[in-house]
Amino acid sequence: MRTTILPITPLHTAVAAAVHAQCFKRPWEESFLAGVLSISGTFGWLAILDSNRDRIANRAPPFRGGLPAGLIVCRLTVGEAEILTVGVLPRARRLGIGSLLFKKVCNTLPGETIILEVAVDNMAAITLYQKLGFKKVGRRSHYYPRINGVTVDAFIFRLS
Ligand SMILES: CC(C)(COP(=O)(O)OP(=O)(O)OC[C@H]1O[C@@H](n2cnc3c(N)ncnc32)[C@H](O)[C@@H]1OP(=O)(O)O)[C@@H](O)C(=O)NCCC(=O)NCCS
Repeated sequence: MRTTILPITPLHTAVAAAVHAQCFKRPWEESFLAGVLSISGTFGWLAILDSNRDRIANRAPPFRGGLPAGLIVCRLTVGEAEILTVGVLPRARRLGIGSLLFKKVCNTLPGETIILEVAVDNMAAITLYQKLGFKKVGRRSHYYPRINGVTVDAFIFRLS
């Protein structure tokens, strides 16, 4: 299986928003994503899974010959890069796509400290971040709203 990583340009925001909607219960609207990406220092990439050889991809409409299967958006500020969102389609998980998206960020911003927040109950993401070498450096109380007024804490992870 081959995965291509493409920058999210204004031509790709609709596709990227459609991927986001399949990854999160609170998806980003296309206009919101476009606004986020228009801010200076913000980068986004789409992962395109080769549809010719992959059975999973053939269930979805092709995009440039493949399946848009994941995305990552990060923002570089003074001294660090923050991951604003990262997600992979449910049917394309555990294929290494999330890891590839992080590799793209690290290769594009060599030497930068990378930070992110993650819900304390998101074991898939926490396991991925720890495998990539991120260290837990803090916790924010009641950070993520869930249904019925419930909130969940966030861990802050850093990769230096
Ligand atoms: C978190 C997420 C991006 C991981 O993407 P992915 O493409 O499945 O990740 P990878 O295939 O690169 O996984 C790399 C490693 O992370 C760990 N991992 C990933 N998903 C896991 C899971 N569900 N359970 C346990 N470990 C997991 C494993 O160590 C895995 O290696 P392995 O498959 O060889 O065991 C994906 O699960 C996702 O989109 N989740 C919903 C959105 C989300 O929660 N985003 C993060 C918000 S902070």
